[in-house]
Amino acid sequence: MRLFFALWPPPDAARALADWADEVARGTGGKPIPAERIHLTLAFLGEGDPGTAARGARQVQGDAFDLPLDLARYWKRNQIVWAGPRHTPASLDHLSRALHLELRGAGFILESRSFASHVTLVRKARRPRALPDLPPVHWPATEFLLVESRTSREGPVYAALKTFPVLKPHA
Ligand code: 2AM
Repeated sequence: MRLFFALWPPPDAARALADWADEVARGTGGKPIPAERIHLTLAFLGEGDPGTAARGARQVQGDAFDLPLDLARYWKRNQIVWAGPRHTPASLDHLSRALHLELRGAGFILESRSFASHVTLVRKARRPRALPDLPPVHWPATEFLLVESRTSREGPVYAALKTFPVLKPHA
């Protein structure tokens, strides 16, 4: 099974972003991501054992933060429209780094390219003439998820396997 760790938005944030993706895709074509699949990937593991991944994630301690989404861009190379923070919050950077460190320690081979915080909103998009303003989104990042990805004819199907608090309670 293909695994990744991600931040998942609360339902109203996901809805607002999905509506924005629908609007963009009317101009760019391609596939707007439906609300229930919108996420920000912290680490992509590929094939692996979820128990081992979970043991690594349990060691990760961070600070809760609000994820700002104030930048929308088109990536020509992978033909996606994405939203993300103009300035990656230090807590997000730290969380992703700590997770990568623990997962590498647990034996996972992770991509070496640096973490680019982004939320994919339209796939297979043509270059947009202009992108509409992003909606105001409140996305508190208090927990992260271990997610399994399967492919179906309708696209990827995600199943949350486990949730981890960003800020660990004191033992
Ligand atoms: P993307 O949105 O930029 O495609 C599940 O596939 C999630 O893992 C997606 O958010 C995807 O990012 C991310 N991801 C990162 N590296 C990946 C890889 N090598 N293959 C597939 N997905 C990857």
